Amino acid sequence: MALNGRVALITGASRGLGKAMALALGGAGARLALVSRDAAQLAAVAQEARQLGAQAEVFRADVSDEAQILQLERDVKSKLGPVDILINNAGTVVRSLCLDFTLADWNTVLNTNLTSAFLLSRSFVPHMKGRGYGRVINISSIMAHISLPQRTAYSASKAGLLGFTRALALELASENITVVAISPGPFLTEMTAPLAADPAANATFNARVPLGRWGKPEEVGKLALYLCSDEASFITGTDILIDGGWCAQ
Ligand SMILES: NC(=O)c1ccc[n+]([C@@H]2O[C@H](COP(=O)([O-])OP(=O)(O)OC[C@H]3O[C@@H](n4cnc5c(N)ncnc54)[C@H](OP(=O)(O)O)[C@@H]3O)[C@@H](O)[C@H]2O)c1
Repeated sequence: MALNGRVALITGASRGLGKAMALALGGAGARLALVSRDAAQLAAVAQEARQLGAQAEVFRADVSDEAQILQLERDVKSKLGPVDILINNAGTVVRSLCLDFTLADWNTVLNTNLTSAFLLSRSFVPHMKGRGYGRVINISSIMAHISLPQRTAYSASKAGLLGFTRALALELASENITVVAISPGPFLTEMTAPLAADPAANATFNARVPLGRWGKPEEVGKLALYLCSDEASFITGTDILIDGGWCAQ
């Protein structure tokens, strides 16, 4: 599944699932544009990617800020040329009951998880047009399919991403640009660290996963690599669950 110099922009590449996808794509020959708000952490990921033989450039941006995305598009184009692969992965969660939620927190979750995918797609999909290949991957969640208390904003944002994925796939199919969502179950990252560290929550999560464990970020990395490859050329407008069987119950 070689990516042979294709340019891949990954948001939220500073850690967790974004870092794992960056290393998987970089290891397969992609040239990487690594995006988050933390340039130092991105530089460390870039270093790891270079050790795998990949070209990797760091771009500091807040994905919820329109002006920063417009600037990002100019910066990436001038350093790496047109983007072939866009992975909308940056995300955040605020765990709070709906009736206690502030509008500011609601807007942060929706802007980071959903509006960012619109802003980045609007800026970078034009790079893919007329070139016979393009990939947009949106990182949703099992919380788009099922939910838990304290996840109203998060579930709404991730379910919104699935609708966004379907509609964008229809708009871009004639260009041979595919648009696919990945819906991870529980993976051990900074986002889920408070749950994994709480013995009761950890036991509940393990019990809900038929395979009986947390996912490993590299498992999402390999799925993203497959979706970017030519082997996945007939997959678009859909969503792939990678959840150890949680949603099968
Ligand atoms: N871990 C799970 O179990 C799980 C399950 C389902 C779905 N997901 C989804 O997978 C994605 C990655 O999650 P993760 O578990 O890897 O979480 P994580 O370790 O907390 O990483 C989140 C990433 O998003 C970036 N980010 C957050 N807000 C941003 C902003 N405003 N602008 C730019 N970058 C921003 C962070 O970078 P900086 O802080 O450096 O800016 C970081 O790189 C998220 O969309 C999440 O909802 C995760």
